[in-house]
Amino acid sequence: MTLSAERIVLGVSGGIAAYKAPDLVRRLREAGAEVRVVLTQGARAFVGPLTFQAVSHQPVHTDLLDPAAEAGMGHLELARWADRVVIAPATADCLARLAAGLADDLLTTLCLATEAPITVCPAMNHVMWRAAATQDNLATLVQRGIDVIGPEEGSLAEGESGPGRLTEPAEVVRRLIAAPAAPRTAGHAPKSGPLAGRHVLITAGPTREAIDAVRFIANRSSGRMGFALAAAAQASGARVTLIAGPSTEPTPTNVERIDVETALEMHAATLARASASDLFIAAAAVADYRVADPVTHKLKNSREQQTLALVANPDILRDVAALPNGPFTLGFAAETEALEEHARHKLTAKGLDMIAANRVGDGMGFEVADNTLHVLWPDGAVTLGPATKGQIAHDLLTIAGEQLDGAG
Ligand code: PMT
Repeated sequence: MTLSAERIVLGVSGGIAAYKAPDLVRRLREAGAEVRVVLTQGARAFVGPLTFQAVSHQPVHTDLLDPAAEAGMGHLELARWADRVVIAPATADCLARLAAGLADDLLTTLCLATEAPITVCPAMNHVMWRAAATQDNLATLVQRGIDVIGPEEGSLAEGESGPGRLTEPAEVVRRLIAAPAAPRTAGHAPKSGPLAGRHVLITAGPTREAIDAVRFIANRSSGRMGFALAAAAQASGARVTLIAGPSTEPTPTNVERIDVETALEMHAATLARASASDLFIAAAAVADYRVADPVTHKLKNSREQQTLALVANPDILRDVAALPNGPFTLGFAAETEALEEHARHKLTAKGLDMIAANRVGDGMGFEVADNTLHVLWPDGAVTLGPATKGQIAHDLLTIAGEQLDGAG
């Protein structure tokens, strides 16, 4: 699939990551899109309009009240022309202005005036990203049906490290292709249901940890349990973001799906969104370890014994549970024995609000259509099933929703 004939307005706001925006324009055009660029005043301090004009092959739009521009394609024409508006990079200031509904420059006015779906790709300093004001603004935008891509973890321009890097242009294009432009109402949570107004973030499926160019370490998770939870949360009125490891399960209707492959990618994608969510459910079977030095070529068969050095992956669930003002956290515990004892230990050790103990092995838990869960929280416990994963997902969300409401 491509972005063939899609008309994209690319808004660029004023951060250092603006230097990557011309590459994004180039890649969007390679994918078949027609691109019109709108620069904020701040963006022009980093990259000039001529650069964007050269890569987009179109005039660049900078001013709200430019008579020449209004005579050609003014802000309302641009707003109507767009099949999709993408803002990359979206600075903290840009997110705040969008959340406040300001209309004092071309980009914000255009966003108010368009009915096209809007995707923001935040990029900023990691402390600014984690700031409560930024996360509140993001939650407001997500609530209004605006899609978010990134930011990613990594080293930042100012020499520090953390979440805040602009998602690489190739990945932004891949995500836009994977999520075809749909009216902004699609993806909105239904207005009613026990989780109406809530943002639920779910991890699902396995992760793959590369050994070499063609081999990887993975596990038997199909994604079924996590995808069933995403469908059930959407049906309960929530806005749902599903961060999925490799899985052939179909994306539930009106669920935002973000595909990842490795535990590190799942960690970055989850932590970038966790603070803006109300309920986090960790149904993924995340690799506890990755190969220390995966090689980029295919390893030769030497017929000799080989040893793989492994390093620990970050614990996504533990890191979300440790966030200040983080979401209600519901973890899973896949166990082959001493189910409740191990699950209760994980509940406490990872600082969770609730845990679902899942007996696995001998044809249970992984891959199969049915499941049984022993759900534990600090002052309660209940067994769900055996039943289909769809039914279990519905029942689990009912319990989690009650506890979430109780937690305020
Ligand atoms: O996908 P299916 O085929 O439908 O199978 C469903 C399932 C069996 C995978 C699912 O119901 C399940 O039990 N998922 C959790 C699997 C697991 O990794 O459990 P764990 O006990 O190893 O991990 C405990 C918790 O920490 C889990 O919520 C896990 O998502 C999370 N974790 C673990 C490691 C890590 N690095 N980061 C994490 O977030």
